[in-house]
Amino acid sequence: MKAIETKNLTKIYGGHLKAVDALNLTIDEGEIYGLAGPNGAGKTTTINMLVTRITPTSGTAIVGGFDITKNSIDVRRLIGVVPQDFTADEDLTGRENMMMVSQFYDVPKAKAQETCNSLLKLVNLEEAADRLVRTYSGGMRKRLELIIGLIHEPKILFLDEPTLGLDVQTRTQMWNYVKEIQSRLNVTIILTSHYLEEIDELAGRVSIIDHGKVLITGTPAELKESLKGDIINLTLSDQKGADLMKTAPDALEVTDSGPNAVRIKVISADESLPKIINFISQHELSTVKLTVQKPTLDEVFLEYTGRSIRDEEGEDTRKMAMNMRRARQ
Ligand SMILES: Nc1ncnc2c1ncn2[C@@H]1O[C@H](COP(=O)(O)OP(=O)(O)OP(=O)(O)O)[C@@H](O)[C@H]1O
Ligand SMILES: [Mg+2]
Repeated sequence: MKAIETKNLTKIYGGHLKAVDALNLTIDEGEIYGLAGPNGAGKTTTINMLVTRITPTSGTAIVGGFDITKNSIDVRRLIGVVPQDFTADEDLTGRENMMMVSQFYDVPKAKAQETCNSLLKLVNLEEAADRLVRTYSGGMRKRLELIIGLIHEPKILFLDEPTLGLDVQTRTQMWNYVKEIQSRLNVTIILTSHYLEEIDELAGRVSIIDHGKVLITGTPAELKESLKGDIINLTLSDQKGADLMKTAPDALEVTDSGPNAVRIKVISADESLPKIINFISQHELSTVKLTVQKPTLDEVFLEYTGRSIRDEEGEDTRKMAMNMRRARQ
């Protein structure tokens, strides 16, 4: 069975803004599926429909075997949600927050206590569990939000920007927790993120969406390969050698990249590197340095959306500050 199957899922706001446009996604059980896209692409709207927070304008989705428009209560029981905004109550402790949420789901108290303890342990929050959430750092709050979404042992977990605004180190830590959760608890995870290295690291498959439509779907490796643009950086012992590389085999493009150095673009470095090395030895050139660079998901994003994800970071920081402010009020 598929964990999620959307069928022409559509959301139109205010009669004209097509936030999600006949979206068709299929997500397998047990996979971590990434949704990437620029600000306003429709990621949160898609998630909000799948978790039955808002109703689709047309189309539908089957989540864990249930139709989101007809069986929303069944869907809710099966899923866990970690929303883009903070939801934990700052005036309660971490544990109290978890126990409160467990009551919404009618988890028996003893069972909830047990799950709570093991989840706190999983994300190393045991020591802070009985402190007020307002004393938590940003990373601790995100970890708490992550496990609050798991208190009723859902089969499918939605993570909307789980590391937004966290520093690089805390973000990498979160990745380990997410992997741990996926493998130990065997949940299907749907993840949105602006950090493409996060999607690259975590997601088995990813869809890049823009204007509510899927632009491309595949494994991170497939998407990177689809660009057909590996770069071979070569530094030779003299400029004559570097110049000669302009006639190297398989080179799509050769540009000077410094003293005695060239940047050679090829479709696949795996295939072209041996030929280029032969070429170098045939011409009795000597190499000082050789590196191979494969495209990143950021470049894939730029290729398909025409925008750089880097341009959006200012927006992320602004949102994060707003979330923090809202959470403190
Ligand atoms: N409640 C709403 N009413 C009207 N328009 C909305 C509403 N929520 C979202 N939109 C609009 O729908 C579009 C998609 O928004 P959405 O929040 O789903 O994007 P997103 O991909 O999650 O963006 P971000 O990366 O900024 O989180 C945007 O144009 C947004 O302004
Ligand atoms: Mg969003």
